[in-house]
Amino acid sequence: MTKELTTLTPLAEDVFKGLQAESKHLPSKYFYDARGDELFQQIMHLDEYYLTRKELEIFQTHKEGILKAINSDEPFRIIELGAGDGLKTKVLLKHFMEAQVDFTYTPVDISGNVLEILEGNLKAEIPGLKIESYEGDYFDALAEIAESPETDIVFFLGSNVGNFSEAEAVDFLTKLQHFLKPSDLLFMGVDLKKDPSIILNAYNDNQGVTREFNLNLLDRINTELDANFDRNQFLHYPYYNPHTGECRSYLISKIEQVVSIMEQEVHFSAWEAIFMEISKKYDRRQLDKLAAASGFTSKQTFLDSDGWFADVVWQKEK
Ligand code: AVI
Repeated sequence: MTKELTTLTPLAEDVFKGLQAESKHLPSKYFYDARGDELFQQIMHLDEYYLTRKELEIFQTHKEGILKAINSDEPFRIIELGAGDGLKTKVLLKHFMEAQVDFTYTPVDISGNVLEILEGNLKAEIPGLKIESYEGDYFDALAEIAESPETDIVFFLGSNVGNFSEAEAVDFLTKLQHFLKPSDLLFMGVDLKKDPSIILNAYNDNQGVTREFNLNLLDRINTELDANFDRNQFLHYPYYNPHTGECRSYLISKIEQVVSIMEQEVHFSAWEAIFMEISKKYDRRQLDKLAAASGFTSKQTFLDSDGWFADVVWQKEK
């Protein structure tokens, strides 16, 4: 299969690029259509998916310490990249309001719909909170930030950084760091290495929600790119490598088959895999290395009671 890539939508372009490659892959950023958002909400409530609970615990336990670590005496702005439903952030925002800190909350998301719901909820729950949402790309938002004289604290929570390979994470964080002023800070959630079976279970839940989350991308391609994936012919296979800290999810073709996408044929051998998502876990040493490689120094690290998850406060290297 070869497909001329020039006139395609970003989704189509990435799908063809990924499925034409020697090792097939699809970008996990396309998981999040309306159904994908719904499934991710379900995932965050699963027993096996400890990440959300652990980060929430950190915020509840360390909210005072977090405020101390990020608060200058000047008014500041919190810019949250990929705000989602704001469930966890709310704990901190409430605490900051109670402490009578002068700040503005700027959630950034590409979905205007997500922002509207979030804004409605937060205004109802935290009276007086100053919100200025930004609909668009992270780096467009950050480009604007660089121009404001105000101190900015960039929130990048939930171990979203784990959905990058290490090289991609260095690239992303270096770019982010270039946009920051010396007084700005990064507050980032990172999932840590731990008992491998706990990690693997988080991506292989009993109810099959994570499996559905992966298969939903095939459904999305069927709908949006006129394709005919038969989801029953694909197996969800997550795999954790304790050496690299990478949990990788694959969809594996159970049979030899041909799938049609926008009238182009894609051939799958029996047991051929599509790499769907990376969720990388770090240890403290690797985190320090990541900070140094992307131009940051670590100011403070907050952990949950089991030491499974970290929220780090990083500043721009002087
Ligand atoms: C959004 N991101 C941090 C989640 C993770 O843990 O990698 C996405 C996810 N994939 C499967 N379950 C949750």
